[in-house]
Amino acid sequence: MSGPASGDDPARRCAECEVWWARPAGAGRLLHLLPAADLERAGRFWLQADRDRSVAAAALTRLLLAGRLGVGPAELVIDRTRGKPRLSWPAAAVDFSVSHAGDQVAVAISEVTAVGIDVERLGRLSADPAQDAALTRRWVRQEAIVKLAGTAPAGAAACTLADLHPARGYLAALAVRGAGAGVTEHDGNTLLTERAGRA
Ligand SMILES: CC(C)(COP(=O)(O)OP(=O)(O)OC[C@H]1O[C@@H](n2cnc3c(N)ncnc32)[C@H](O)[C@@H]1OP(=O)(O)O)[C@@H](O)C(=O)NCCC(=O)NCCS
Repeated sequence: MSGPASGDDPARRCAECEVWWARPAGAGRLLHLLPAADLERAGRFWLQADRDRSVAAAALTRLLLAGRLGVGPAELVIDRTRGKPRLSWPAAAVDFSVSHAGDQVAVAISEVTAVGIDVERLGRLSADPAQDAALTRRWVRQEAIVKLAGTAPAGAAACTLADLHPARGYLAALAVRGAGAGVTEHDGNTLLTERAGRA
């Protein structure tokens, strides 16, 4: 993604918006990172795969936020009462967005702009691969815009889209508020593995 950044410092531009990718496998070893509300939410899923995605996404989100804010992952309070989940404690100017599909979990996080992310598996929208890719691309871009604000895509004109790099067989997009931001993509599996099984 290109676009104006605050100042000319390349490091700052790179840090504006981070996208972290992880796989849900082994999510059972991350439960100690989650508060009771997240455990209860994950426990509502019938399928193990859904529970694992929920736990991995919550753990990765909490680790990323906690690392920036200097509190324990389970101490963070995330408000899920309305629309887009948002950090409600500690108070901080940080926005995040979560998406998961198949064995892909994605968390976008930024301290300078609002973010919306979506990842989808290919092969669901058309039997024709080229048409499927085009439809899926359009879908993830549209969903990313929706998830930026957590509402209908009325503000599409006021955001910028970037196509991301999920695993083979998936497409993903990121929407950021305004004219654009530096985006870096990271492997979150190491972070999850390092924190698996310990508080
Ligand atoms: C709620 C919605 C954004 C979830 O998207 P999804 O593709 O089903 O699922 P994803 O895995 O991408 O995203 C799920 C995450 O979105 C987040 N989320 C939930 N509601 C949200 C909202 N209103 N806004 C932003 N993010 C939201 C949550 O963090 C959730 O993950 P978690 O429960 O593990 O924390 C989506 O179902 C929706 O309602 N879209 C609006 C419909 C629409 O207009 N689509 C346009 C397509 S052309």
